[in-house]
Amino acid sequence: MSTHPAPLRLAVIVGSARAERLAPQVVSWFTEQIAQRADMSVDVIDLLQARLPDSLDPQAPEVATLRPRLAGADGFVVVVPEYNHSFPGVVKTAIDCYTTEWHAKPVGFISYGLSRTGGARAVEHLRQVFAELHAVSVRNAVEFPAVLEHFGPDGRLPRESGSEAAAKVMLDQLAWWAWALRDAKSRRPYEAMR
Ligand SMILES: Cc1cc2nc3c(=O)[nH]c(=O)nc-3n(C[C@H](O)[C@H](O)[C@H](O)COP(=O)(O)O)c2cc1C
Repeated sequence: MSTHPAPLRLAVIVGSARAERLAPQVVSWFTEQIAQRADMSVDVIDLLQARLPDSLDPQAPEVATLRPRLAGADGFVVVVPEYNHSFPGVVKTAIDCYTTEWHAKPVGFISYGLSRTGGARAVEHLRQVFAELHAVSVRNAVEFPAVLEHFGPDGRLPRESGSEAAAKVMLDQLAWWAWALRDAKSRRPYEAMR
């Protein structure tokens, strides 16, 4: 019998649903970073495809379809642009559609925007929201300020940049929490206390 634990299941949430969005390129860069790691497998959850209802109806088929993918994740990374100094409404809808699926799990962030803050204001707002959902936001995030300047002539984010090191630090922190919480929950189920 193998003594190696199953890799962490990381759900990467694509936090933009605009037609002309940059999000897929950012996600593509990020999944390349994760592919270099043996300790994680990835499930990319695209909120454009998910089409979650603003009604937040828990019986809606779109909500039900996504539920097991979120419930089965050991941790999350939200790839999020900054819209008007916060995060897009489609991300809030996704968060609000679920409850226990977020509980006692770590959340990391990749943010970007046209301004010099690199989406940091979106991330700080998300930390407040995820705290309400008993999720643990990891300290370090990856930011792409003035995001258009990061793209090479091929339309992709460059492979060599400080962002790769930042992604590794964020993922290492996220992995620590995910292993710790997975272990703790195997001994004692997490019960959300009000
Ligand atoms: C409604 C809206 C509001 C925006 N507000 C900000 C902002 O407050 N700060 C910023 O840095 N960029 C802002 N931007 C620029 C976006 O962060 C940038 O266009 C980014 O590419 C959006 O991500 P997406 O293309 O994946 O949707 C805004 C864009 C939109 C559409």
